[in-house]
Amino acid sequence: MEHGQPDPVGAGLVLLTGAGGQLGAALSEAFPEADARTRAELDVAEPIALGYVPELVLHAAAWTDVDGAEADEAGALRVNVEGTRNVVALGAPVVYYSSDYVFDGAKREPYVESDEPSPLGAYGRSKLLGEREVREGWVVRSSWLFGWTGHNFVRTMLRLGSERKEVSVVADQTGCPTYVGHLAAATRELLDLPGGVWHVAAEGQATWAEFAEAIFAEAGLDCRVVPISTEELGRPAPRPAYSVLRSERKGAPRLPHWREGLRECLARL
Ligand SMILES: NC(=O)c1ccc[n+]([C@@H]2O[C@H](COP(=O)([O-])OP(=O)(O)OC[C@H]3O[C@@H](n4cnc5c(N)ncnc54)[C@H](OP(=O)(O)O)[C@@H]3O)[C@@H](O)[C@H]2O)c1
Repeated sequence: MEHGQPDPVGAGLVLLTGAGGQLGAALSEAFPEADARTRAELDVAEPIALGYVPELVLHAAAWTDVDGAEADEAGALRVNVEGTRNVVALGAPVVYYSSDYVFDGAKREPYVESDEPSPLGAYGRSKLLGEREVREGWVVRSSWLFGWTGHNFVRTMLRLGSERKEVSVVADQTGCPTYVGHLAAATRELLDLPGGVWHVAAEGQATWAEFAEAIFAEAGLDCRVVPISTEELGRPAPRPAYSVLRSERKGAPRLPHWREGLRECLARL
């Protein structure tokens, strides 16, 4: 069977949406058997006609522009809610990737699955409503994803760190920077566990400023981090001040520490 082609004898096939994204790239490697579709190959916001019934959907396609969602909430809802509805309509169990931004960040200890979501912004609201579209499968909440492709904090800091002597980075938001390779591997483990909501994020926690310092140190870049506040940065979307995720569920996958994820990511850049 060719990579990505439906199995003619009908043994199940895994569909991967959003294969062009940073998590999609990692899932393509962890699930080499998957029918991996980029946005150009499968727009989830349109009704989906596959020509076969998958046995599982890894749904990594999403509107991920947190600030852009404030200006176009309808656009974010169309992809994250209607898109998920279209994926669910395929009739297979779905792995839906959700976000720490479903929480408001008022807590000062890790968020667990039984904590009540209360998103601050349009992106978080759209991800939470997307969660509620899932009928059968796994809702995987993760946070601060970074990988070797696409737009992410690690790649931005590597660029800025090589151009400048100092960079201002927010020091009043704390989360779990999670390497997409580790999240993709944990997804395999989850498939042997019951469905429902799971918190799957890297071990450890950091502020964006601490994460930037670690990136410069690991990459050997001589760039100073100037800590600033969220208010000083002045982005359109509100973000949780604290969004560390941990699981309270039995047998939950344990991810390596974010520093280990950072090293693995840098080794690929
Ligand atoms: N990034 C984070 O920090 C973070 C944190 C927690 C959870 N998550 C969740 O994890 C998942 C993966 O995120 P990521 O970081 O890999 O994001 P990403 O790199 O932005 O990838 C998302 C992919 O979805 C595609 N897409 C957008 N609209 C689509 C549509 N209508 N149909 C099909 N594909 C579409 C995008 O294509 P284009 O680029 O062409 O638009 C992109 O390739 C998302 O569900 C996200 O909400 C992300």
